[in-house]
Amino acid sequence: MSEGTIALVTGANKGIGYEIAAGLGAKGSTVGVGARDPQRLEEAVAKLRAAGVDAFGVPLDVTDDASVAAAARLIGDRFGRLDVLVNNAGITGGGPQEPTVVDPAIIRTVVETNVIGVIRVTNALLPLLRRSASPRIVNMSSSVGSLTRQSTPGAESGPIAAAYSPSKTFLNAVTVQYAKELADTNILINAACPGYCATDLNGFRGYRTAEQGAATAIRLATLPDGGPTGSFFEDAGVVPW
Ligand SMILES: NC(=O)c1ccc[n+]([C@@H]2O[C@H](COP(=O)([O-])OP(=O)(O)OC[C@H]3O[C@@H](n4cnc5c(N)ncnc54)[C@H](OP(=O)(O)O)[C@@H]3O)[C@@H](O)[C@H]2O)c1
Repeated sequence: MSEGTIALVTGANKGIGYEIAAGLGAKGSTVGVGARDPQRLEEAVAKLRAAGVDAFGVPLDVTDDASVAAAARLIGDRFGRLDVLVNNAGITGGGPQEPTVVDPAIIRTVVETNVIGVIRVTNALLPLLRRSASPRIVNMSSSVGSLTRQSTPGAESGPIAAAYSPSKTFLNAVTVQYAKELADTNILINAACPGYCATDLNGFRGYRTAEQGAATAIRLATLPDGGPTGSFFEDAGVVPW
């Protein structure tokens, strides 16, 4: 399902995004490594290539229209299509995020990256995805965005937060809207939760590895035709909205 495919992973210079790029590369994809910092981009591409991945660098800040347009041009000029887009780049926005004290600027910043960034990148790449025989889009969400888990006593749903968790709820809702609009196409779009992984995002407090966190996104990026769309998955299966 991935041999010979062209993939783009945003925020792929480290953490879960890097491992998604490595995993797709190991399955035979040519992988665009999206990263906003030129040096971190170069280092990640070199590391992936050293590991045998057919990786190429894609300078990409998901909050910047010009950067996203340039990334789409780069892939279009080089390959003329895109088969897999993994919208992985994300931030927590720092704290405090309790709703009664949160600085609205934090909410704007987090939504700009975690939600609007995904829409910006997806729409810029859609013309190239439409040229693929089996296009797949994966939005890296989090189970902390699950309203069901947030409202179920005892369920793990992360710390109280007015920016990060709701940004993933928003992203899930946007994912469903895309799936509805694209229902008559061959594009499958789903949200993934990686579980709580040790990365920079959480000061390496997670109890899973970034490689483990990449698994669900890799599975959704390589779904067979006719697979699910408009759903939300973690390793154990469907995550409730
Ligand atoms: N770790 C977890 O436990 C966990 C749990 C649930 C969901 N997630 C989600 O998984 C995804 C990856 O997180 P991670 O844990 O791997 O975090 P990470 O190690 O902090 O990596 C985040 C990546 O996103 C990039 N990024 C941030 N803002 C960007 C922007 N404006 N443009 C382009 N790239 C940008 C970062 O680039 P820089 O290096 O330049 O900052 C980095 O490459 C996120 O969407 C996160 O919300 C993580």
